[in-house]
Amino acid sequence: MNKDEILHWLNPDTDPAPLLALADRVRREHVGGAVHLRGLVEFSNYCRRSCRYCGIRAGNAKIRRYRLTPGEILACARAAAGLGYGTVVLQSGEDPAWGPRELAALTERIKKETALAVTLSTGEHSREDYRMLRAAGADRFLLRFETSDRRLFGELKPDSDYDARFRCLAWLREAGFQVGSGVMAGLPGQTPESMADDILLFERLGLDMVGIGPFIANPDTPMGGAGNGKLDLALRMTALARIVTRNAHIPATTAMGSIDPQGRQKALRCGANVLMPNISPAEHRVDYSLYPGKICTGEAPEQCAGCVDAMLKSLGRERAAGHGHSLKVQISPARPAGCSPKAPVGEGAPPVRAGEPRNGSRVWGTGEYPAGRASGRS
Ligand code: 5AD
Ligand code: FES
Repeated sequence: MNKDEILHWLNPDTDPAPLLALADRVRREHVGGAVHLRGLVEFSNYCRRSCRYCGIRAGNAKIRRYRLTPGEILACARAAAGLGYGTVVLQSGEDPAWGPRELAALTERIKKETALAVTLSTGEHSREDYRMLRAAGADRFLLRFETSDRRLFGELKPDSDYDARFRCLAWLREAGFQVGSGVMAGLPGQTPESMADDILLFERLGLDMVGIGPFIANPDTPMGGAGNGKLDLALRMTALARIVTRNAHIPATTAMGSIDPQGRQKALRCGANVLMPNISPAEHRVDYSLYPGKICTGEAPEQCAGCVDAMLKSLGRERAAGHGHSLKVQISPARPAGCSPKAPVGEGAPPVRAGEPRNGSRVWGTGEYPAGRASGRS
């Protein structure tokens, strides 16, 4: 799909029904009907950054800060395994007290004690630290670039750097992670051109996972007075992401479910194939308040598990078996940096489908990132 076609489908005056139906068909053909469940642990809401949209930004004095201990996180991981999930996703703000060494030690323990795949979502680290985390056994990493618009990125994330963000994505790839990224939809000042660029970038980056959610204004942030993103736009973006990436893993995100009670169900009908039920301890859930109205803050892990199973049943879908590794690449086991790759083994080695892109289709190697690449306005 080219940029003009993408712009056509992003236009709110275009009937989205054919786009959503095509995305559903592409999802069925390339990733099948089963839905991967990833248990999400929000393990610290301390953050050194000041992203203007985000409720856990350093400057927000209104939230109660918490961080889980390694033992508490391990208990969550065991609960995830007990609920039959294939992956635990460990997400936090950029918390200096949960540095790469601590994360690596925790990852090693989880990998030793459970059969779970481990996904980290802990923000920007150095090249060496990403390598260390991968060597510790972490399988995947999520780092959204949030918007491809360089100017808007600078406004949203005043203490972050656009080029550094994309450099991190290249380092993650180099370290051997399955890499996820994504954006918010409906940000103030976000243009259709930049959203079309977001979509094209998902494909060009060869992402294994793509997460999209509507922007939801948080009153305790500098963007509290802005209007929310629309679910319709987030669904169009999800559908386009499915069509251009074909077999990326795409979640029906919590933000979609928070802005509309049927948001996640609708996303699963137009390209999404992943759900990330919250398995954080109940007492802290309400404090991981990126945006208001977040779902599942009152539910226990088992309740979310029951809820997602009921949701899948109502959609005529089923839980996927296994870890739910990337369908894009042959996954090799984690290894210390510098060792030669081993042959892929077992469930960790999904077949590369005929005609699907392999590593070679990824256009950015290490050190290459989209310098100067942005929407037409930058
Ligand atoms: N509205 C919607 N999504 C948000 N995120 C952070 N703050 C908000 C908000 N106000 C998303 C960002 C981040 C992810 C963890 O949550 O895209 O990468
Ligand atoms: Fe948490 Fe539905 S997924 S209550």
